[in-house]
Amino acid sequence: MSQQPNSNTPAHAMPPPLERGKGSELIAIRDLKVHFDLGGGGFFDRLVGGSRVRRVVKAVDGVSIDIYPGETLGLVGESGCGKSTLGRAILRLTEPTSGHVLFRGQDLTLFSKIPAWVNLAGLAWGGFVWVVWLMPLARRLTGGLNNFFIDLLGDGVRAALLTFLSYTGLSLLFALAAYYAARGIMKAVARHRSEKGMRELRRHLQMIFQDPYASLNPRMTVGQILAEPIETFSPQRRRPRYSRYVLVALLAVVLAVVGFTGETDGVVRTIARILLGFLIGWLVGLVGEKFSRGRKDMDPTVVDLMETVGLSPRFVKRYPHEFSGGQRQRIGIARALAVNPDFIVADEPISALDVSIQAQIMNLMERLQREKNLTYLFISHDLRAIRHVSDRVAVMYLGKLVEIADARVIYDEPLMPYTKALISAVPVPDPEIEATRQRVVLEGDVPSPINPPQGCRFHTRCPYAIEACKEVVPPLAEIKPNHFAACIRISPEQPHIESVAPGDAPGLRDAQRVIAT
Ligand SMILES: Nc1ncnc2c1ncn2[C@@H]1O[C@H](COP(=O)(O)OP(=O)(O)O)[C@@H](O)[C@H]1O
Ligand code: SF4
Ligand SMILES: [Mg+2]
Repeated sequence: MSQQPNSNTPAHAMPPPLERGKGSELIAIRDLKVHFDLGGGGFFDRLVGGSRVRRVVKAVDGVSIDIYPGETLGLVGESGCGKSTLGRAILRLTEPTSGHVLFRGQDLTLFSKIPAWVNLAGLAWGGFVWVVWLMPLARRLTGGLNNFFIDLLGDGVRAALLTFLSYTGLSLLFALAAYYAARGIMKAVARHRSEKGMRELRRHLQMIFQDPYASLNPRMTVGQILAEPIETFSPQRRRPRYSRYVLVALLAVVLAVVGFTGETDGVVRTIARILLGFLIGWLVGLVGEKFSRGRKDMDPTVVDLMETVGLSPRFVKRYPHEFSGGQRQRIGIARALAVNPDFIVADEPISALDVSIQAQIMNLMERLQREKNLTYLFISHDLRAIRHVSDRVAVMYLGKLVEIADARVIYDEPLMPYTKALISAVPVPDPEIEATRQRVVLEGDVPSPINPPQGCRFHTRCPYAIEACKEVVPPLAEIKPNHFAACIRISPEQPHIESVAPGDAPGLRDAQRVIAT
């Protein structure tokens, strides 16, 4: 079903982190980090009894992986391990803290970076405003204060000192104001560039959400929901904005007042009446256009989309609440497909659905993938669903990828202890195998992603942990061809942790196989 990566690539020949994607990958993610700063640790926090240390949620912490055209990469892990944040950061719906996401070699993260010249221009403008206007203003204001202090304290050292202090304080305040204004300019420019740059790319990158109901506008019909992205990305089909009607109507009122009251002279009144005539004509045109587009619900592209996802076009005028969960997810899928994307992040797309409907949606997604050559990042905590749809699987634990391999391989022969535990919890349909198979039960809960454990993040729950695991962050290393795992206690020579000598950490000797940390 999909194009697989070159299976015999030696690990040291893999692109090192941050090499700009020249290979066959559709998406290349390099050392991606998303940290949420919850604050704390500052002077005021201590003063008001807040957190004494700065609290940062390291939701995604150094993820590197390639996604190949036409494949489904399953992303699995316990709740709260950072799957959704990773998916959103790839599409830049959440701004990454650092790292790179390349789509066909184009770095999406660069759009949000402020170019050096904007920084310099902003600061130069802020400095200019400060020197030319704000400093003289501070001097003028404190000049008045000087007289006030002299009146109050007499013409002595104390009055001079107070004047000097107020001048310095005011200048400092103005300098800060100029700096923040300059920063605002820089940010606005960066945001404008970012939106402009991402706009075209956004068409290729879409998302399907877990809860289609929450992500569908309840006041729009299915027809309108599906027509919206089509119009957004094809300007010739864009509808006139309502704000335009309001502006035109306001202008018409002003012209009517000028044209039909006796206050103005004859020429002005005549011009106002002529303009009013034009405006009314235009307004009629706009309203006519709106009404002609009122039938856009039956747009052939919308009808096509509905049929593609198995919804009857008869429902085009219905609202989301009139559909079942499965049907709503079909609308969510159709909306993502409306702009002919290449890559779709499906974040728990079946988790909110009944089991009987789950298979239908998975089959629909598979069919669409074949027909439209789509590439999926399929996020789920449900290992059985992941197994069903994925070509490759990436396992995530507390913000890091800990194992990547072909779906079949990862289920039949997991290498990293966390993956082993996850897989062992999946029931097997065969009752005989189910009765005899061994389960690895994990002790304790997932630690908090705020200040996560040092070393291997899994060491607090790992049955194989040794002292070194608390200190060394295990690199994601190629243990078998195209099978990557992050554990210092295994290596290509000793891939099975059960057969490694007690206390030994063969992975530590294997630094050249590291592809990412
Ligand atoms: N906007 C946010 N602000 C602060 N913390 C967040 C935010 N979004 C997610 N998190 C935290 O990041 C971690 C990962 O969340 P998430 O990506 O939703 O996990 P998953 O999808 O694997 O369940 C969680 O601890 C969550 O609380
Ligand atoms: S590095 Fe240590 S703690 Fe981490 S998975 Fe391997 S054995 Fe367990
Ligand atoms: Mg999630």
